[in-house]
Amino acid sequence: MTSRPLVIAVDGPAAAGKGTLAKALAVKLGLPYLDTGLLYRAVARRMVNAGLDPAGDASAEAQALQQADLARTDLRVPEIDRGASLVAAQPAVRAALLERQRVFASETGAVVDGRDIGTVVFPDADVKFFITASPRTRALRRHHQVHGGTPLGEAALEAAVAEIVARDERDSSRETAPLVQAPDAILIETDTLSAAEVLDKACETVALRCARN
Ligand code: DC
Repeated sequence: MTSRPLVIAVDGPAAAGKGTLAKALAVKLGLPYLDTGLLYRAVARRMVNAGLDPAGDASAEAQALQQADLARTDLRVPEIDRGASLVAAQPAVRAALLERQRVFASETGAVVDGRDIGTVVFPDADVKFFITASPRTRALRRHHQVHGGTPLGEAALEAAVAEIVARDERDSSRETAPLVQAPDAILIETDTLSAAEVLDKACETVALRCARN
């Protein structure tokens, strides 16, 4: 076991299962959990509420972001999915949010999920995971998260897949902190795995890594 607090980075594209894994790992290991996507979503929400285009300069909104905003329930709507991806591409926004993420984990350790946790925010994280699944699997999961058992027609599914692919493209092609697997991250593809199976795999890895350190 390392003497400094344990930091676990969980990165990957939207709706791949990283939030589900990160939350469960945090409970299992007794660590705080930080969903960094909520920070970018809260910045986008502030822009939209102020009548501003999230593609425009969002640095003032990122500076002004307060913890209380993260509890809002209207951060997971399509307008904010897109807006968060636009504000997240802005270097000034990422710089304004960086320290806050590091401070969160500094005393107690944490399980942190996002896109650049293992590459930029915590390059020295004790364990890094990169969680992914096909765009179709992720579109279906996102639909079930939002709409429960309501069936999704083929045309709507295709539109949802296209939106996910477009967001992946924006997140992966931006110049600052793009979505990319860290060289030392463990890849878990979740298409054919249940949440419990993903958790089991991750726990095995954490146990092995911690035994070695
Ligand atoms: O994980 P999410 O879908 O809630 O993230 C919302 C957006 O924020 C997504 O388009 C990518 C971006 N994001 C990021 O760029 N870096 C992070 N660490 C977390 C999220």
